Amino acid sequence: MCGICVCVGSVNAVKKVFDGLKILEYRGYDSSGIAFIENDKIKCVKTVGDISNLEEKISSLQSNIAIGHTRWATHGGVTIENAHPHLSASKNLAIVHNGIVENYKELKKEFNISTTSQTDSEVFCDLIEKENGSLLEKTISASKLVKGGFAIALLSNLGEVVLAKRENPLYVAQTSFGVMATSDIYVFCDITQKYYTLSDDEFAKIENGKIFFFDKNGKKIKKKCEKIKKNLKKVEIFEKTHMKSEILETKNSLFMTYKNYQSGKLFEKIFLPKKLESICLIACGTAYHSALQGAMYFKKIKIPSQAYIASEFRYGDEILNKNTLYILISQSGETLDTIACAKMLKEKGMALLALTNTENCYLNQICQNILPTFAGKEIAVASTKAYSCQVFVLYLFSLFLSGKFLDKKKDIEDFLKELSLTDIDEEIVDYVASFEKIFFVGRGFDYITALESSLKLKEITYINSFAICAGELKHGTLALVDDKTIVISFCTFKKTKEKLFSNLEEIIARGGKVLVVSDEIVPFKSVRLPTFLEEFMPIVSVIPMQFLALKICEKLGYNPDKPKNLAKSVTVE
Ligand code: G6P
Repeated sequence: MCGICVCVGSVNAVKKVFDGLKILEYRGYDSSGIAFIENDKIKCVKTVGDISNLEEKISSLQSNIAIGHTRWATHGGVTIENAHPHLSASKNLAIVHNGIVENYKELKKEFNISTTSQTDSEVFCDLIEKENGSLLEKTISASKLVKGGFAIALLSNLGEVVLAKRENPLYVAQTSFGVMATSDIYVFCDITQKYYTLSDDEFAKIENGKIFFFDKNGKKIKKKCEKIKKNLKKVEIFEKTHMKSEILETKNSLFMTYKNYQSGKLFEKIFLPKKLESICLIACGTAYHSALQGAMYFKKIKIPSQAYIASEFRYGDEILNKNTLYILISQSGETLDTIACAKMLKEKGMALLALTNTENCYLNQICQNILPTFAGKEIAVASTKAYSCQVFVLYLFSLFLSGKFLDKKKDIEDFLKELSLTDIDEEIVDYVASFEKIFFVGRGFDYITALESSLKLKEITYINSFAICAGELKHGTLALVDDKTIVISFCTFKKTKEKLFSNLEEIIARGGKVLVVSDEIVPFKSVRLPTFLEEFMPIVSVIPMQFLALKICEKLGYNPDKPKNLAKSVTVE
């Protein structure tokens, strides 16, 4: 959520920053901008909307120092004034900022700051300018006044560059052409082999082509260099959109994930509570749906389990237990609410396990145990292959905990070999798209697939849809069913098949239409899935629904990779 890129030392700093912003665009695409030095003055170029709008504006600009930003709006609408970088009152300091200054209104009043934008970021910039000392000293003291998380880069008209970080990610590296800093290490692919991760309340100063690190008291500190992993490669897209590429990569992602887990060693490394009494899974968005599926897998092996939405868990009154394993699931490993839960649980001494798709993410740094998914970088905002891999790893982990991991080897390998990704016919796409109301229903595992399918549809087509347990329809929602309604139902959970069919008849009796996604022949209009063991079906049945959302989105002329109002990593509350 918001991307930062900095380049110091290259003659083409503006272009280098722009190239970095293009990689970071998935973090926010409301507006973008770059500040640089020209004739000892800070100049700023900003645009609203797609980053390609910025390209023309910067093509002739030359500077050896630049800071850039791609924005997901929090405070203040999507306007040029609110686009970053922001300048201080004197115009001698520029800031790019990811995060939220929670007390910006109070600070604005207390320090008598007047701003030209509606952003909290501009207040932060002026606050720094009003402090005393060098730019580094000013930044350190201003940071102490700020409530909330942030990653910032500052550029002064004297060519000083300072970085600061609390909660939101920030990485910095010495490259062959100069120093680069960014919110995502993917920007470093093909640029450098080594980089540094700024920790909370750490600061960096870039001076004479070198990086100096400081703690919150301004004391110089040494930091360990980290190596970019060999498998961290620039994303190559082989379809029109990232989302389509990513759905089509699912089989390979599952295969890569299994390859890393098949020996069981990654599970053996996990420190479990001495007496594992229960499992609590915590996540947001799509990852929450995989948490729900995971809870079902764990309950099947008789471990009491429950999934929670992170933003609810952190403010709820949940009773914590040292014999509970807390699994925090996040594709990005950056989601603020999930991280806040991890921090809170860590402080209380609970057993934590992070299930993430991003190496060296913040969540991994907090949790003592890590289960990675090997889905490969996911760029499209709507999560697809990462979801399938999360569900798969949770299933494998449940087998490990039940002691049956190796016994199931053949079933898993057969599944991976035979899995084919079910696409959806154009005729069905048009049929579904012709309805005003699209509901999703299911029972058991299938209900969770219904939740995830409905979220996919909402995210990228903006069609109002929701999911409900099939058995709950008659307790209220049936009142909405009429001839403008289609109910998409999943039928892979065998225990309740007959009951589900009765629920569908009740819909038809009220003029609604049904579409059943099943691996069996069913007496309704249907999408036919290949048959696998029931536990694999959540992975199988979500695929045609990802295609359905994608195809409706394309028909409506929207870009599935950049749905309106959303961003891939949500680093604010
Ligand atoms: C955003 C994304 C969703 C994602 C959710 C959680 O809302 O748009 O696709 O599921 O964040 O993200 P995480 O990285 O924690 O899995």
